[in-house]
Amino acid sequence: MALLIAILGATLVLCICSALLRWNEVRYRKKGLPPGTMGWPVFGETTEFLKQGPNFMKNQRARYGSFFKSHILGCPTIVSMDPELNKYILMNETKGLVPGYPQSMLDILGKCNIAAVHGSTHKYMRGALLSLISPTMIRDQLLPKIDDFMGTHLSNWDKKIINIQEKTKEMAFLSALKQIASIESRSISQAFMPEFFKLVLGTLSLPIDLPGTNYRRGLQARKSIISILSQLLEDRRASSQETQQDMLGCLLRSEENRYKLTDEEIIDLIITILYSGYETVSTTSMMAVKYLHDHPKVLQELRKEHMAIREKKKPDDPINLDDLKAMRFTRAVIFETSRLATIVNGVLRKTTQDMELNGFLIPKGWRIYVYTREINYDLFQYPEPLSFNPWRWLEKSQESQSYSFIFGGGSRQCPGKELGIAEISTFLHYFVTRYRWEEVGGDKLMKFPRVEAPNGLHIRVSSY
Ligand code: HEM
Repeated sequence: MALLIAILGATLVLCICSALLRWNEVRYRKKGLPPGTMGWPVFGETTEFLKQGPNFMKNQRARYGSFFKSHILGCPTIVSMDPELNKYILMNETKGLVPGYPQSMLDILGKCNIAAVHGSTHKYMRGALLSLISPTMIRDQLLPKIDDFMGTHLSNWDKKIINIQEKTKEMAFLSALKQIASIESRSISQAFMPEFFKLVLGTLSLPIDLPGTNYRRGLQARKSIISILSQLLEDRRASSQETQQDMLGCLLRSEENRYKLTDEEIIDLIITILYSGYETVSTTSMMAVKYLHDHPKVLQELRKEHMAIREKKKPDDPINLDDLKAMRFTRAVIFETSRLATIVNGVLRKTTQDMELNGFLIPKGWRIYVYTREINYDLFQYPEPLSFNPWRWLEKSQESQSYSFIFGGGSRQCPGKELGIAEISTFLHYFVTRYRWEEVGGDKLMKFPRVEAPNGLHIRVSSY
């Protein structure tokens, strides 16, 4: 009898499950949508996507082609893995393909955040940002600060076990803070850094505003950060410190700056700069350390480049723009690291109206996951794609080839590319000229959905 009940129970559960799956498929069976599956009501295929990672994408592509529908991370989504189509999507924001980042991210980063604005407002905010990180700004104001910061941040590591993940995270945040508010960065960093880390976690959470959730903590962190930055603006104005040679100084000298921003816009722009460069710069730096450790020949070549730069200088001379230009192999290491580790898997867009794409009809409000990961391992673009070979980037055409989306593409292509490369290059300069290192061992590295070492990446460091 018990067995019969168990069998009946199991059959009932199976029937309910398959009815739910079927109902969800029928619900989304609109005419003209691309092929694909929608998974469970509400949850869709999120669990499979997160568990199987890149394999989920590859399997779906094998079944449905490079343009398929799914339901992941809370939204009906079109996944596009076709390089030509990806390029088209990124180039055509004006046709209604705007950024489609999750609600939690938009709530926490603010309504003037660059990902939240479109059209002329986006152009204006992007222009304001570009004026802060122009090549002249990098040469005259930002690089000296980056150099000064890295020199100090990478001191006293000799004979220590260092969690390089933690150090590169601090590096990315503190170095950006110094470029934004040079004189105050030291005094505000203690209060700012933990709030910033909470803000980052909040943007990656579900938008459930309940006590104890990362989302609630993220919103609270945003409030604290707004109060720190408002105070900073007030103090600068009160002490006539608008003349400071840093990003905040530029933003406050409105008579010289053609971009006039309100305080709210200034604050959201600062949060944008801190946020956008944080995970990308820190993770690329950490993974460069990892790959250099695993590839002694590459490390040898990189060190040769940096020693040659150091030899031409007095011990305390800073890195300047000419040195940066001479770091050709370093740049190649950074590109190869970004490619092989795939720091950015893709970017998100959403449709602002019903539209036709690739011969299919995509409803308004659907998310489009421009999944660019696979192109990083394309045999034709990168022969022996799984080997770490920075030399491939020394060919000029490699960086400019049109399907490389390491820094995105179209009207949203990363404006911080050269700044990010300058930061990572300066970090590597001090790291490889001062130290040798070995991994302590036993640390795990996760590659998906984000590249991270869940328990840190520990290295034993000694003087070089
Ligand atoms: C290795 C370092 C970096 C990588 C790999 C990287 C990658 C990217 C990618 C793929 C995008 C496109 C996002 C999209 O299309 O939705 C992007 C956009 C952006 N990045 Fe970077 N980034 C890096 C460093 C930085 C830095 C240092 C900054 C600081 C200013 C920055 C600021 C931005 C901003 C503001 C956007 C949005 C642009 C817009 O919407 O117009 N990035 N980045």
